Amino acid sequence: MCGIIGYTGSQSALPILLDGLSRMEYRGYDSAGVAVLCDGKIEVEKAHGRLQNLIEKTGDGHALPGFAGIGHTRWATHGAPNDINSHPHVSGDGRFAIVHNGIIENFAELKAELEARGHTFVSETDTEVVAHLIESYYKGDFKAAVMKAVSRLEGAYALGIVCADHPGTVFGVSKAAPLIVGLGIGENFFASDVTALVSYTKNVIYLNDGEFAEVRSDDVVVYNEIGRPVEKTVSRVAWSIEAAEKGGYEHFMLKEIMEQPAAVKEAIAPRIKGGEIVLDDFELSAEELKKIRKIVITACGSAYHAGCCGRYAIESLTRIPVEVKLASEFRYEDPIIDEHTLMIIVSQSGETADTKAALEEGRRRGASVLAIVNVVGSTIARLADHVLYEWAGPEIAVATTKGFTTQLVLLYLFALYAAKKLKKLDDFEYARLLGEICSLPKRIQNAIDLNGQVIPRLAEKYHNKGSIFFIGRNTDYAVALEGALKMKEISYIHAESYAAGELKHGTIALIDDGTPVVAVCCNESLLEKTANNILEVKARGAEVLALSFRENREIIAQADDVLFVPKTETVFSPAVAVIPLQLLAYYVARANGCDIDKPKNLAKSVTVE
Ligand code: M6R
Repeated sequence: MCGIIGYTGSQSALPILLDGLSRMEYRGYDSAGVAVLCDGKIEVEKAHGRLQNLIEKTGDGHALPGFAGIGHTRWATHGAPNDINSHPHVSGDGRFAIVHNGIIENFAELKAELEARGHTFVSETDTEVVAHLIESYYKGDFKAAVMKAVSRLEGAYALGIVCADHPGTVFGVSKAAPLIVGLGIGENFFASDVTALVSYTKNVIYLNDGEFAEVRSDDVVVYNEIGRPVEKTVSRVAWSIEAAEKGGYEHFMLKEIMEQPAAVKEAIAPRIKGGEIVLDDFELSAEELKKIRKIVITACGSAYHAGCCGRYAIESLTRIPVEVKLASEFRYEDPIIDEHTLMIIVSQSGETADTKAALEEGRRRGASVLAIVNVVGSTIARLADHVLYEWAGPEIAVATTKGFTTQLVLLYLFALYAAKKLKKLDDFEYARLLGEICSLPKRIQNAIDLNGQVIPRLAEKYHNKGSIFFIGRNTDYAVALEGALKMKEISYIHAESYAAGELKHGTIALIDDGTPVVAVCCNESLLEKTANNILEVKARGAEVLALSFRENREIIAQADDVLFVPKTETVFSPAVAVIPLQLLAYYVARANGCDIDKPKNLAKSVTVE
């Protein structure tokens, strides 16, 4: 949602804060701000709009001298994205400044209480209330005031706090929202995301729910909710700063599309040992698997689509029924979940509020939870019984690509693993399907190579369309869902996906002369059926862009344009078929001059309900 950072050390704080914010801008880009401790005073600068405005306002990071400070990049929740509502927020006496990611649910009640005690507020935010609350509890002990104030807060949030009386200290608080402490030499940091830290240090501490970090240049002390110091493990970040940079690509999204063969390989290869699938540090026995009566996959957005694709692989290989549920709906459904349910929670960021709430709801009802997550140490990874990490490296573009395909391959590996344990296939078939999964990186590369030149030209034809329909059946429908989401979120063209057989039940009324229809035709057993649907829309004047393999003569003959992908085992085909659709969305958005990595109104991780 928002990104927060804190620094204290021997270097000038402002350039480090701005650099860290630039790496977290994908988390929110409505406004940005910093607070730096200068000569016993807190100096604040903020600017609405992109971070660049703040960089210019602070003379490229030279305007505020000082060796400790906090910074924020905002995705607005409470109050419009203007300078007043931008963070940091300052207490009435100017002694405290605070940055905040998340939501304080009881802020209205606290605000009323503070107003009755004479506090006045300048912004519409929930954050400003926290600054005033700390001020009201301060009697010279910074930590005690922070702890007292935090004990009054309800919600999920991470906070960064500075106090004018303690110029070398920055305080970080994590309550069901990520905060990572970075350990340097003569300097220390905290941030919402390791990407803000890796160019300074790879040694990090992941704060657990309810923990506080008192960070000084030469010392970090982590406390639990009741203020007792806790021993923390120092983890080493496995990737370098280059992974979080564009590396010559025009956009992070294009870089991340191109990284998919390597990312998918990284997700698969370490999990295959001696021809067998090994699921990290856990094993599900045949007996445990037999007790599972159903699997519920729950997630949001593209991760939900990964679930829709994965369902076909799990059901067809294991014959365990699978339900795929939108996490934002899940907890309001009174879901039928018990100890015989395995929940698979899918989340690139591991922080999505709705997905986390679905996990907790499933847990409450007795399900065991397997999480598929990319961000190491994230909240969902910590809450689950078992975790499969995607190992995709940092994903910076708001529109997910490698996050999605690595989720898919982990669902495929799980499906094949469970099928083998349940003796649903013989050794020969197991080895054949494992070979198919192992060949996905090569096929994904092939899908990039086959379409890399064609799609930019096709984008010229599609970029000024008002609406694009995506159709497919079964696994192809699941891919169409993701293709349409990619198109709308970055190009702002209205795009909808339909199960191809459903068109005639209403939607076909929208098909007219020149209406673009993208037909996904990679599911071999249903090609004839989809071919009929192509004829139906063509008869109404649609222009059809088909996505299929070269051998598929009938569809090639009917379509106006064709994108090719290599033939792939049907249940695993979404991992390959989605690639041209990602590229299509990318080049259409580029032709429309859209801000591809930071689409309007969106943020990378959605930590509010
Ligand atoms: O981090 P998560 O995988 O939980 O995020 C879920 C969705 O917010 C995410 O997939 C979103 O739909 C992307 N912007 C799609 O590109």
